[in-house]
Amino acid sequence: MAEFATVTIDGIEHQFPIITGTEGERAIDISRLRAEAGVITLDDGYGNTGSCESAITFIDGEKGILRYRGVPIEDLAARSSFIETAELLIFGELPDVEEREEFRELLIENSALHRDMRKHFDGFPSTAHPMAILSAMVNAIQTHEVRDPYITDRQHFKQAAAGLLAKTRTIAAASYKSHVGQPIAYPRYDLPYAENFLHMMFSVPYRDYEATPEVAHALNMFLVLHADHEQNCSTSTVRMVASSGANMFASVSAGVNALWGPLHGGANMGVIEMLEDIRDHGLKPVDYINRVKDRTSGVKLMGFGHRVYRNFDPRAKILKEAADNLLDAMHITDPLLDIAREVEQAALADDYFASRKLYPNVDFYSGIILRAIGIPLDMFTVLFAIGRTPGWIAHWKEVSDNPKQRIYRPRQIYVGEQLSEWVPRAER
Ligand code: ACO
Repeated sequence: MAEFATVTIDGIEHQFPIITGTEGERAIDISRLRAEAGVITLDDGYGNTGSCESAITFIDGEKGILRYRGVPIEDLAARSSFIETAELLIFGELPDVEEREEFRELLIENSALHRDMRKHFDGFPSTAHPMAILSAMVNAIQTHEVRDPYITDRQHFKQAAAGLLAKTRTIAAASYKSHVGQPIAYPRYDLPYAENFLHMMFSVPYRDYEATPEVAHALNMFLVLHADHEQNCSTSTVRMVASSGANMFASVSAGVNALWGPLHGGANMGVIEMLEDIRDHGLKPVDYINRVKDRTSGVKLMGFGHRVYRNFDPRAKILKEAADNLLDAMHITDPLLDIAREVEQAALADDYFASRKLYPNVDFYSGIILRAIGIPLDMFTVLFAIGRTPGWIAHWKEVSDNPKQRIYRPRQIYVGEQLSEWVPRAER
């Protein structure tokens, strides 16, 4: 039976339909609110705004559930490869053997950069942040290699999606190589996605890098866990840009920039910087927690808190265990892991965090894994971007395929000057 919410404005009752999702989530469809009642809703930061209906990822923040196309994140992290997960997100189903093989071929064929694209790397100063390079280069792909960036047929989309996934990885590794002054390493046709990235990062002309199975497994899991997270800041940015009809490369390039911010993907760097600060200044975790609680300090506990999770982030649980396992397997100890554990314990025992339901998020332990693998700190957010690319592609496609899609265009409540007079310059 159809349900409605009733809103009374100026003594007049208006009814709006209540929409229910497949997992029972409910929303009031207010799309006719302004037309009928002359008002809009105001929701700073979109905390209560459903911007779309989407069939890609489900999160229950209260219960700590995350599923891609219905498949629990725990199963994907334990059993799936990053590319299989990417195909699930982008095409809607886990691939069968034939589809997996076809996509593997497409990735191989599309992983090298056009020769002219390499010239761009020379134009960036050696101090350039790899996220700036990544966003510029992702946007540049279309100028070199894509005949029709608007991508109309399915086979062309498959090829473009494979190209973007493969080239994002190649660009990331090439930007690192340019930064450290080493020759760019070519992708290898025989290596899986994660291993190929590590090869391009760490192989040098006189020595090939071979990833151990533990390192490859940890990186693969990192990428799977970052592959999508419904309407987060960068994905909403991709959807917003896509809604104007912009092509996939332009839309994803915008997503890279949104991810860069320290409150979003940049937090994985922020966590390590925080832990190093605690170590280098000999701080006790509880002292750091007190600094965070002092609202005049402007300091946040990086890697803690989440707009949607008001319970443990399921990705953080998996990554914490994975960090332990990787360090054990590599026979290394990282004092930052001990500090992270102490900080987590101190925060979880503190009423400030408990009362606000602040728990570790995906970024809290991911940096420990990346450090152990040997990824330099300023590449951490780039690794997040590589992981998130399948999600961005899937959301771009969902927007582009929606025949009812309208351009994203929020309204506002204006609070500036009322009508004011233009005064000639000499009289101001
Ligand atoms: N440290 C200290 N206090 C915090 C933190 C934190 N990490 N996170 C939230 N709070 C406090 C807020 O100050 C606020 O307190 P108040 O009610 O007394 O004003 C309360 O908890 C609610 O927080 P909001 O800021 O309303 O939460 P919001 O949903 O807007 O922000 C965010 C979420 C940005 C993730 C925030 O928790 C944060 O800044 N965390 C640290 C950065 C971080 O780890 N980002 C990665 C997020 S996951 C991702 O993008 C991959």
